[in-house]
Amino acid sequence: MTELTGSDPRPSGGTPPPGCPAHQGAVPLSGLEYQQSPSELYRTMRREHGAVAPIVLDGNVPAWLVLGYAEVTYVTAHDELFARDSRRWNQWPVIPPDWPLMPYVGHQPSVLFTEGAEHQRRAGVITQALEEGVDQFELAQWCRSIAHQLIDSFAGSGRAELMASYAHALPMRAAVQMCGMPAGGEDTEHLVTDLRISLDAREGDDPVAAYGRVAERIQRLVKEKRAAPGPDVTSRMLTHPAGLTDEEIVQDLISIIAAAQQPTANWICNSLRLLLTDDRFALNVSGGRLSVGQALNEVLWLDTPTQNFIGRWAVRDTQLGGRQIRAGDCLVLGLAAANTDPQIWPEGHIGAENSAHLSFSNGEHRCPYPAPLLADVIARTAVETLLERLPDVVLAVEPEELTWRPSIWMRGLTALPVSFTPVVR
Ligand code: HEM
Repeated sequence: MTELTGSDPRPSGGTPPPGCPAHQGAVPLSGLEYQQSPSELYRTMRREHGAVAPIVLDGNVPAWLVLGYAEVTYVTAHDELFARDSRRWNQWPVIPPDWPLMPYVGHQPSVLFTEGAEHQRRAGVITQALEEGVDQFELAQWCRSIAHQLIDSFAGSGRAELMASYAHALPMRAAVQMCGMPAGGEDTEHLVTDLRISLDAREGDDPVAAYGRVAERIQRLVKEKRAAPGPDVTSRMLTHPAGLTDEEIVQDLISIIAAAQQPTANWICNSLRLLLTDDRFALNVSGGRLSVGQALNEVLWLDTPTQNFIGRWAVRDTQLGGRQIRAGDCLVLGLAAANTDPQIWPEGHIGAENSAHLSFSNGEHRCPYPAPLLADVIARTAVETLLERLPDVVLAVEPEELTWRPSIWMRGLTALPVSFTPVVR
Protein backbone atom coordinates (compact mmCIF):
# COMPACT_ATOMS: atom_id res chain seq x y z
CA MET A 1 0.00 0.00 0.00
CA THR A 2 1.27 3.49 -0.75
CA GLU A 3 1.77 6.01 2.04
CA LEU A 4 -1.29 7.90 3.19
CA THR A 5 -1.27 11.46 1.93
CA GLY A 6 -2.69 14.73 3.27
CA SER A 7 -6.13 13.74 1.91
CA ASP A 8 -6.17 10.55 4.01
CA PRO A 9 -9.70 9.19 3.66
CA ARG A 10 -9.21 6.57 6.40
CA PRO A 11 -11.87 6.59 9.12
CA SER A 12 -10.88 6.83 12.75
CA GLY A 13 -13.13 3.88 13.70
CA GLY A 14 -10.44 1.14 13.70
CA THR A 15 -10.99 -2.62 13.49
CA PRO A 16 -14.26 -4.24 14.55
CA PRO A 17 -13.69 -6.19 17.77
CA PRO A 18 -13.06 -9.95 17.44
CA GLY A 19 -16.35 -11.84 17.51
CA CYS A 20 -18.20 -8.83 16.10
CA PRO A 21 -21.89 -9.87 16.16
CA ALA A 22 -22.38 -8.62 12.61
CA HIS A 23 -19.94 -11.28 11.43
CA GLN A 24 -21.20 -14.27 13.38
CA GLY A 25 -21.76 -17.16 10.97
CA ALA A 26 -19.75 -15.31 8.31
CA VAL A 27 -19.14 -17.40 5.20
CA PRO A 28 -15.54 -17.98 4.04
CA LEU A 29 -15.36 -16.81 0.44
CA SER A 30 -12.86 -19.45 -0.65
CA GLY A 31 -12.42 -23.19 -1.03
CA LEU A 32 -12.66 -25.72 -3.80
CA GLU A 33 -16.39 -26.26 -3.42
CA TYR A 34 -16.86 -22.55 -3.96
CA GLN A 35 -14.85 -22.57 -7.20
CA GLN A 36 -16.76 -25.38 -8.84
CA SER A 37 -20.32 -24.31 -8.01
CA PRO A 38 -20.47 -20.73 -6.73
CA SER A 39 -24.14 -20.35 -7.73
CA GLU A 40 -25.07 -22.99 -5.11
CA LEU A 41 -23.17 -21.04 -2.49
CA TYR A 42 -24.87 -17.75 -3.46
CA ARG A 43 -28.29 -19.42 -3.18
CA THR A 44 -27.47 -20.72 0.30
CA MET A 45 -26.00 -17.38 1.41
CA ARG A 46 -29.03 -15.51 0.14
CA ARG A 47 -31.36 -17.89 1.98
CA GLU A 48 -29.39 -17.68 5.23
CA HIS A 49 -28.22 -14.07 5.20
CA GLY A 50 -30.31 -12.08 2.70
CA ALA A 51 -29.01 -9.65 0.09
CA VAL A 52 -25.90 -8.58 2.05
CA ALA A 53 -23.96 -11.42 3.64
CA PRO A 54 -21.14 -11.30 6.20
CA ILE A 55 -18.09 -13.05 4.75
CA VAL A 56 -14.52 -13.62 5.73
CA LEU A 57 -11.72 -13.23 3.22
CA ASP A 58 -8.30 -14.97 3.38
CA GLY A 59 -6.89 -14.88 6.92
CA ASN A 60 -10.34 -14.47 8.50
CA VAL A 61 -10.63 -10.83 7.50
CA PRO A 62 -14.29 -9.69 7.68
CA ALA A 63 -16.09 -8.07 4.76
CA TRP A 64 -19.58 -7.96 3.22
CA LEU A 65 -20.69 -9.70 0.05
CA VAL A 66 -23.41 -7.71 -1.71
CA LEU A 67 -25.54 -10.38 -3.41
CA GLY A 68 -28.71 -8.52 -4.39
CA TYR A 69 -29.17 -6.88 -7.81
CA ALA A 70 -30.85 -3.84 -6.22
CA GLU A 71 -28.18 -3.61 -3.51
CA VAL A 72 -25.22 -3.81 -5.95
CA THR A 73 -26.93 -1.16 -8.08
CA TYR A 74 -27.42 1.03 -4.99
CA VAL A 75 -23.86 0.65 -3.72
CA THR A 76 -22.28 1.41 -7.09
CA ALA A 77 -24.60 4.39 -7.67
CA HIS A 78 -23.76 6.04 -4.33
CA ASP A 79 -20.05 6.91 -4.28
CA GLU A 80 -20.65 9.40 -1.51
CA LEU A 81 -21.54 6.44 0.77
CA PHE A 82 -19.52 3.59 -0.74
CA ALA A 83 -16.24 4.87 -2.10
CA ARG A 84 -13.35 3.34 -3.98
CA ASP A 85 -10.19 4.41 -2.08
CA SER A 86 -9.11 1.27 -0.22
CA ARG A 87 -7.18 3.35 2.33
CA ARG A 88 -10.58 3.86 4.00
CA TRP A 89 -10.49 0.23 5.15
CA ASN A 90 -10.86 -0.29 8.92
CA GLN A 91 -8.99 -3.62 8.67
CA TRP A 92 -5.54 -2.31 7.65
CA PRO A 93 -4.13 -2.73 11.18
CA VAL A 94 -4.55 -6.52 10.88
CA ILE A 95 -3.55 -6.98 7.24
CA PRO A 96 -0.03 -8.40 6.78
CA PRO A 97 2.06 -6.88 3.96
CA ASP A 98 2.16 -10.24 2.14
CA TRP A 99 -1.62 -10.76 2.34
CA PRO A 100 -2.65 -12.70 -0.79
CA LEU A 101 -5.36 -10.20 -1.75
CA MET A 102 -2.98 -7.24 -1.55
CA PRO A 103 -2.74 -6.92 -5.37
CA TYR A 104 -6.49 -6.23 -5.42
CA VAL A 105 -6.80 -3.90 -2.43
CA GLY A 106 -3.39 -2.28 -1.96
CA HIS A 107 -3.86 1.35 -2.93
CA GLN A 108 -2.20 2.39 -6.20
CA PRO A 109 -2.23 5.88 -7.67
CA SER A 110 -4.26 4.73 -10.70
CA VAL A 111 -7.79 5.59 -11.90
CA LEU A 112 -9.05 2.51 -10.04
CA PHE A 113 -8.65 4.00 -6.56
CA THR A 114 -9.40 7.66 -7.24
CA GLU A 115 -12.62 9.32 -6.13
CA GLY A 116 -14.82 12.33 -6.96
CA ALA A 117 -13.48 15.06 -9.24
CA GLU A 118 -10.07 13.34 -9.52
CA HIS A 119 -11.75 10.14 -10.73
CA GLN A 120 -13.82 12.09 -13.26
CA ARG A 121 -10.63 13.67 -14.60
CA ARG A 122 -8.81 10.33 -14.96
CA ALA A 123 -11.79 8.31 -16.22
CA GLY A 124 -12.72 11.12 -18.64
CA VAL A 125 -9.29 10.88 -20.25
CA ILE A 126 -9.60 7.09 -20.60
CA THR A 127 -13.08 7.29 -22.13
CA GLN A 128 -12.04 9.88 -24.69
CA ALA A 129 -8.78 8.09 -25.49
CA LEU A 130 -10.56 4.75 -26.01
CA GLU A 131 -13.21 6.45 -28.13
CA GLU A 132 -10.83 8.41 -30.36
CA GLY A 133 -7.78 6.15 -30.24
CA VAL A 134 -9.50 2.89 -31.25
CA ASP A 135 -11.47 2.36 -34.44
CA GLN A 136 -13.76 -0.63 -33.82
CA PHE A 137 -13.47 -1.91 -37.41
CA GLU A 138 -9.71 -1.68 -37.28
CA LEU A 139 -9.72 -3.41 -33.89
CA ALA A 140 -11.75 -6.29 -35.39
CA GLN A 141 -9.18 -6.56 -38.22
CA TRP A 142 -6.27 -6.65 -35.75
CA CYS A 143 -8.06 -9.28 -33.69
CA ARG A 144 -8.71 -11.43 -36.78
CA SER A 145 -5.07 -11.18 -37.76
CA ILE A 146 -3.88 -12.01 -34.19
CA ALA A 147 -6.38 -14.90 -34.09
CA HIS A 148 -5.06 -16.33 -37.37
CA GLN A 149 -1.45 -16.14 -36.16
CA LEU A 150 -2.31 -17.89 -32.91
CA ILE A 151 -4.40 -20.56 -34.66
CA ASP A 152 -1.58 -21.11 -37.22
CA SER A 153 0.68 -22.08 -34.33
CA PHE A 154 -1.49 -25.09 -33.40
CA ALA A 155 -3.81 -25.75 -36.39
CA GLY A 156 -1.55 -28.40 -37.92
CA SER A 157 -1.49 -30.53 -34.77
CA GLY A 158 -5.22 -31.22 -34.45
CA ARG A 159 -5.12 -30.47 -30.70
CA ALA A 160 -4.82 -27.33 -28.57
CA GLU A 161 -5.25 -26.00 -25.08
CA LEU A 162 -7.23 -22.88 -25.92
CA MET A 163 -7.00 -21.08 -22.59
CA ALA A 164 -3.23 -20.49 -22.70
CA SER A 165 -2.61 -20.58 -26.44
CA TYR A 166 -5.62 -18.53 -27.55
CA ALA A 167 -8.08 -16.96 -25.08
CA HIS A 168 -5.41 -15.38 -22.86
CA ALA A 169 -3.01 -14.43 -25.61
CA LEU A 170 -5.43 -12.68 -27.97
CA PRO A 171 -6.86 -9.86 -25.80
CA MET A 172 -3.40 -9.16 -24.39
CA ARG A 173 -2.01 -8.57 -27.88
CA ALA A 174 -5.09 -6.54 -28.85
CA ALA A 175 -4.79 -4.32 -25.75
CA VAL A 176 -1.07 -3.70 -26.30
CA GLN A 177 -1.73 -2.80 -29.95
CA MET A 178 -4.55 -0.40 -28.92
CA CYS A 179 -1.99 1.38 -26.76
CA GLY A 180 0.27 1.90 -29.76
CA MET A 181 2.84 -0.90 -29.62
CA PRO A 182 3.50 -2.37 -33.09
CA ALA A 183 2.11 -5.88 -33.66
CA GLY A 184 4.54 -8.77 -33.78
CA GLY A 185 7.72 -6.84 -32.83
CA GLU A 186 10.23 -8.52 -30.50
CA ASP A 187 9.75 -5.74 -27.98
CA THR A 188 5.96 -6.25 -28.02
CA GLU A 189 6.41 -9.99 -27.54
CA HIS A 190 8.57 -9.38 -24.43
CA LEU A 191 5.92 -7.03 -23.03
CA VAL A 192 3.17 -9.58 -23.70
CA THR A 193 5.19 -12.28 -21.90
CA ASP A 194 5.87 -10.01 -18.91
CA LEU A 195 2.22 -8.96 -18.70
CA ARG A 196 1.18 -12.61 -18.75
CA ILE A 197 3.61 -13.38 -15.90
CA SER A 198 2.60 -10.38 -13.79
CA LEU A 199 -1.15 -10.98 -14.24
CA ASP A 200 -1.19 -14.76 -14.21
CA ALA A 201 2.03 -16.14 -12.73
CA ARG A 202 2.76 -19.86 -13.12
CA GLU A 203 5.22 -21.98 -11.16
CA GLY A 204 8.76 -20.66 -11.50
CA ASP A 205 7.64 -17.21 -12.70
CA ASP A 206 8.74 -14.03 -10.92
CA PRO A 207 5.68 -11.73 -11.16
CA VAL A 208 7.31 -8.84 -9.27
CA ALA A 209 10.30 -8.69 -11.65
CA ALA A 210 7.94 -9.06 -14.63
CA TYR A 211 5.76 -6.18 -13.35
CA GLY A 212 8.90 -4.02 -13.02
CA ARG A 213 9.75 -4.69 -16.67
CA VAL A 214 6.15 -3.93 -17.72
CA ALA A 215 6.24 -0.56 -15.90
CA GLU A 216 9.62 0.23 -17.45
CA ARG A 217 8.40 -0.62 -20.98
CA ILE A 218 5.20 1.41 -20.57
CA GLN A 219 7.26 4.37 -19.30
CA ARG A 220 9.34 4.08 -22.46
CA LEU A 221 6.19 3.87 -24.60
CA VAL A 222 4.89 7.09 -23.04
CA LYS A 223 8.21 8.85 -23.84
CA GLU A 224 8.16 7.52 -27.42
CA LYS A 225 4.58 8.70 -27.95
CA ARG A 226 5.36 12.14 -26.48
CA ALA A 227 8.10 12.47 -29.09
CA ALA A 228 6.10 10.94 -31.96
CA PRO A 229 2.34 10.69 -31.31
CA GLY A 230 0.20 8.30 -33.35
CA PRO A 231 -3.46 7.31 -33.71
CA ASP A 232 -3.51 5.28 -30.50
CA VAL A 233 -4.79 5.34 -26.91
CA THR A 234 -1.47 6.40 -25.38
CA SER A 235 -1.09 9.40 -27.68
CA ARG A 236 -4.70 10.45 -27.06
CA MET A 237 -4.12 10.33 -23.31
CA LEU A 238 -0.97 12.42 -23.69
CA THR A 239 -2.67 15.13 -25.74
CA HIS A 240 -5.88 15.28 -23.67
CA PRO A 241 -6.51 18.80 -22.26
CA ALA A 242 -6.77 17.39 -18.69
CA GLY A 243 -2.94 17.32 -18.78
CA LEU A 244 -2.26 14.06 -16.94
CA THR A 245 1.35 13.59 -15.85
CA ASP A 246 3.47 10.86 -17.44
CA GLU A 247 3.31 8.92 -14.14
CA GLU A 248 -0.49 9.06 -14.11
CA ILE A 249 -0.63 7.93 -17.74
CA VAL A 250 1.73 5.00 -17.06
CA GLN A 251 -0.44 3.87 -14.11
CA ASP A 252 -3.65 4.17 -16.11
CA LEU A 253 -2.24 2.43 -19.19
CA ILE A 254 -1.25 -0.54 -17.04
CA SER A 255 -4.78 -0.51 -15.53
CA ILE A 256 -6.33 -0.41 -19.02
CA ILE A 257 -4.23 -3.33 -20.29
CA ALA A 258 -4.86 -5.43 -17.16
CA ALA A 259 -8.57 -4.55 -17.11
CA ALA A 260 -8.88 -5.43 -20.79
CA GLN A 261 -6.93 -8.67 -20.68
CA GLN A 262 -8.16 -10.70 -17.72
CA PRO A 263 -11.95 -10.38 -18.05
CA THR A 264 -11.94 -10.51 -21.85
CA ALA A 265 -9.81 -13.67 -21.86
CA ASN A 266 -12.22 -15.38 -19.49
CA TRP A 267 -15.19 -14.09 -21.46
CA ILE A 268 -13.77 -15.73 -24.61
CA CYS A 269 -12.99 -18.98 -22.83
CA ASN A 270 -16.30 -19.24 -20.95
CA SER A 271 -18.19 -18.57 -24.20
CA LEU A 272 -16.22 -21.25 -26.06
CA ARG A 273 -16.97 -23.67 -23.23
CA LEU A 274 -20.69 -22.90 -23.52
CA LEU A 275 -20.65 -23.25 -27.31
CA LEU A 276 -18.79 -26.57 -27.12
CA THR A 277 -20.79 -28.14 -24.31
CA ASP A 278 -24.38 -26.97 -24.72
CA ASP A 279 -26.59 -28.66 -27.32
CA ARG A 280 -28.57 -25.48 -27.89
CA PHE A 281 -25.51 -24.04 -29.62
CA ALA A 282 -24.01 -27.21 -31.09
CA LEU A 283 -26.26 -27.51 -34.15
CA ASN A 284 -25.48 -24.26 -35.90
CA VAL A 285 -22.38 -23.04 -34.20
CA SER A 286 -20.02 -22.87 -37.16
CA GLY A 287 -22.44 -20.96 -39.39
CA GLY A 288 -24.41 -19.08 -36.79
CA ARG A 289 -23.17 -15.62 -35.90
CA LEU A 290 -26.35 -15.02 -33.95
CA SER A 291 -25.68 -17.94 -31.69
CA VAL A 292 -22.15 -16.72 -30.96
CA GLY A 293 -23.69 -13.41 -29.86
CA GLN A 294 -26.20 -15.26 -27.70
CA ALA A 295 -23.46 -17.34 -26.09
CA LEU A 296 -21.40 -14.22 -25.31
CA ASN A 297 -24.41 -12.56 -23.71
CA GLU A 298 -25.50 -15.66 -21.81
CA VAL A 299 -22.01 -15.94 -20.30
CA LEU A 300 -22.27 -12.38 -19.02
CA TRP A 301 -25.47 -13.36 -17.20
CA LEU A 302 -24.56 -16.82 -15.98
CA ASP A 303 -20.76 -17.22 -15.90
CA THR A 304 -19.55 -13.67 -15.83
CA PRO A 305 -15.75 -13.23 -15.86
CA THR A 306 -15.56 -10.69 -13.00
CA GLN A 307 -17.73 -12.75 -10.66
CA ASN A 308 -16.84 -10.72 -7.55
CA PHE A 309 -15.16 -7.35 -7.43
CA ILE A 310 -13.36 -5.87 -4.44
CA GLY A 311 -14.71 -3.36 -3.91
CA ARG A 312 -16.10 -0.39 -2.13
CA TRP A 313 -15.40 1.01 1.35
CA ALA A 314 -18.13 2.63 3.48
CA VAL A 315 -17.54 6.35 3.95
CA ARG A 316 -19.58 6.48 7.18
CA ASP A 317 -21.80 4.26 9.31
CA THR A 318 -24.86 3.34 7.29
CA GLN A 319 -27.31 0.54 6.52
CA LEU A 320 -27.61 -1.76 3.55
CA GLY A 321 -29.94 -4.71 3.02
CA GLY A 322 -30.91 -4.61 6.71
CA ARG A 323 -27.24 -4.70 7.84
CA GLN A 324 -25.38 -2.17 9.94
CA ILE A 325 -22.34 -1.16 7.89
CA ARG A 326 -19.57 0.61 9.77
CA ALA A 327 -17.38 3.38 8.39
CA GLY A 328 -14.42 1.76 6.63
CA ASP A 329 -16.09 -1.66 6.13
CA CYS A 330 -15.21 -3.40 2.89
CA LEU A 331 -17.99 -4.40 0.49
CA VAL A 332 -17.34 -6.98 -2.22
CA LEU A 333 -19.59 -6.50 -5.25
CA GLY A 334 -21.17 -9.89 -5.94
CA LEU A 335 -21.72 -9.28 -9.65
CA ALA A 336 -22.39 -12.94 -10.52
CA ALA A 337 -24.78 -13.35 -7.59
CA ALA A 338 -26.61 -10.13 -8.49
CA ASN A 339 -27.08 -11.29 -12.09
CA THR A 340 -28.92 -14.41 -10.89
CA ASP A 341 -30.87 -12.71 -8.08
CA PRO A 342 -34.33 -14.36 -7.81
CA GLN A 343 -35.77 -10.88 -7.17
CA ILE A 344 -35.16 -10.05 -10.84
CA TRP A 345 -35.89 -13.58 -12.09
CA PRO A 346 -38.97 -14.49 -10.01
CA GLU A 347 -39.98 -17.27 -12.42
CA GLY A 348 -36.70 -19.03 -11.78
CA HIS A 349 -35.84 -18.80 -15.50
CA ILE A 350 -32.89 -16.59 -16.33
CA GLY A 351 -33.62 -15.06 -19.73
CA ALA A 352 -30.32 -13.91 -21.07
CA GLU A 353 -31.65 -11.92 -24.01
CA ASN A 354 -30.99 -8.38 -22.82
CA SER A 355 -27.89 -6.70 -21.42
CA ALA A 356 -29.20 -5.44 -18.08
CA HIS A 357 -26.65 -7.60 -16.23
CA LEU A 358 -24.14 -6.03 -13.85
CA SER A 359 -21.11 -7.70 -15.40
CA PHE A 360 -19.54 -4.36 -16.29
CA SER A 361 -20.64 -3.02 -12.88
CA ASN A 362 -22.56 0.25 -12.59
CA GLY A 363 -22.16 3.90 -11.62
CA GLU A 364 -19.15 6.19 -11.67
CA HIS A 365 -16.53 3.42 -11.48
CA ARG A 366 -18.18 1.01 -13.90
CA CYS A 367 -16.13 -0.37 -16.79
CA PRO A 368 -15.78 2.88 -18.73
CA TYR A 369 -17.57 3.48 -22.02
CA PRO A 370 -16.58 2.36 -24.69
CA ALA A 371 -14.55 -0.46 -23.07
CA PRO A 372 -17.47 -2.96 -23.00
CA LEU A 373 -17.99 -2.39 -26.74
CA LEU A 374 -14.29 -2.92 -27.46
CA ALA A 375 -14.30 -6.06 -25.30
CA ASP A 376 -17.27 -7.30 -27.33
CA VAL A 377 -15.37 -6.74 -30.60
CA ILE A 378 -12.35 -8.63 -29.24
CA ALA A 379 -14.32 -11.53 -27.76
CA ARG A 380 -16.71 -11.92 -30.73
CA THR A 381 -13.88 -11.83 -33.28
CA ALA A 382 -11.86 -14.34 -31.25
CA VAL A 383 -14.73 -16.82 -30.99
CA GLU A 384 -15.94 -16.42 -34.58
CA THR A 385 -12.48 -16.70 -36.13
CA LEU A 386 -11.72 -19.86 -34.17
CA LEU A 387 -14.98 -21.49 -35.27
CA GLU A 388 -14.45 -20.43 -38.87
CA ARG A 389 -10.92 -21.84 -38.97
CA LEU A 390 -11.66 -25.03 -37.04
CA PRO A 391 -15.30 -25.82 -37.91
CA ASP A 392 -15.23 -29.34 -36.42
CA VAL A 393 -13.58 -28.32 -33.14
CA VAL A 394 -14.77 -30.38 -30.14
CA LEU A 395 -13.78 -30.70 -26.49
CA ALA A 396 -10.90 -33.16 -26.02
CA VAL A 397 -12.20 -34.15 -22.56
CA GLU A 398 -15.61 -34.82 -21.06
CA PRO A 399 -17.37 -31.56 -20.06
CA GLU A 400 -17.36 -32.63 -16.36
CA GLU A 401 -13.55 -32.87 -16.49
CA LEU A 402 -13.19 -29.12 -17.10
CA THR A 403 -12.20 -27.35 -13.89
CA TRP A 404 -12.56 -23.74 -12.80
CA ARG A 405 -9.58 -21.71 -11.67
CA PRO A 406 -9.15 -21.28 -7.92
CA SER A 407 -10.08 -17.61 -7.90
CA ILE A 408 -13.00 -15.99 -6.12
CA TRP A 409 -12.65 -12.93 -8.35
CA MET A 410 -12.30 -14.20 -11.91
CA ARG A 411 -14.47 -16.98 -13.26
CA GLY A 412 -12.51 -18.90 -15.86
CA LEU A 413 -11.26 -22.38 -16.67
CA THR A 414 -7.87 -23.79 -15.78
CA ALA A 415 -7.69 -25.25 -19.29
CA LEU A 416 -9.86 -25.78 -22.37
CA PRO A 417 -8.42 -28.75 -24.30
CA VAL A 418 -9.90 -29.25 -27.77
CA SER A 419 -9.34 -31.41 -30.83
CA PHE A 420 -10.14 -30.88 -34.53
CA THR A 421 -9.10 -32.04 -37.98
CA PRO A 422 -5.56 -30.72 -38.52
CA VAL A 423 -5.47 -27.87 -41.04
CA VAL A 424 -2.72 -25.96 -42.79
CA ARG A 425 -3.39 -22.45 -44.05
C1 HEM B 1 -11.26 -3.72 -23.93
C2 HEM B 1 -11.57 -4.32 -22.79
C3 HEM B 1 -11.71 -3.58 -21.46
C4 HEM B 1 -11.14 -2.40 -21.04
C5 HEM B 1 -10.22 -1.45 -21.82
C6 HEM B 1 -11.59 -2.18 -19.68
C7 HEM B 1 -11.23 -1.09 -18.89
C8 HEM B 1 -11.63 -0.90 -17.59
C9 HEM B 1 -11.15 0.16 -16.72
C10 HEM B 1 -10.11 1.24 -17.13
C11 HEM B 1 -11.78 0.05 -15.53
C12 HEM B 1 -11.62 0.97 -14.31
C13 HEM B 1 -12.79 1.93 -14.25
C14 HEM B 1 -12.73 2.90 -13.11
O1 HEM B 1 -12.30 2.55 -12.00
O2 HEM B 1 -13.16 4.04 -13.30
C15 HEM B 1 -12.64 -1.11 -15.62
C16 HEM B 1 -13.43 -1.54 -14.62
C17 HEM B 1 -14.19 -2.67 -14.70
N1 HEM B 1 -14.35 -3.49 -15.79
FE1 HEM B 1 -13.51 -3.28 -17.58
N2 HEM B 1 -12.42 -3.22 -19.30
C18 HEM B 1 -12.51 -4.09 -20.36
C19 HEM B 1 -13.20 -5.26 -20.40
C20 HEM B 1 -14.01 -5.71 -19.40
C21 HEM B 1 -14.78 -6.95 -19.41
C22 HEM B 1 -14.81 -7.95 -20.57
C23 HEM B 1 -15.45 -7.02 -18.22
C24 HEM B 1 -16.39 -8.09 -17.73
C25 HEM B 1 -17.16 -8.82 -18.49
C26 HEM B 1 -15.11 -5.85 -17.46
C27 HEM B 1 -15.61 -5.56 -16.20
C28 HEM B 1 -15.20 -4.51 -15.43
C29 HEM B 1 -15.63 -4.32 -14.04
C30 HEM B 1 -16.57 -5.23 -13.26
C31 HEM B 1 -14.98 -3.18 -13.57
C32 HEM B 1 -15.05 -2.61 -12.17
C33 HEM B 1 -15.99 -1.48 -12.07
C34 HEM B 1 -16.18 -1.02 -10.63
O3 HEM B 1 -15.25 -0.54 -9.96
O4 HEM B 1 -17.33 -1.10 -10.19
N3 HEM B 1 -14.24 -5.07 -18.20
N4 HEM B 1 -12.54 -1.66 -16.90
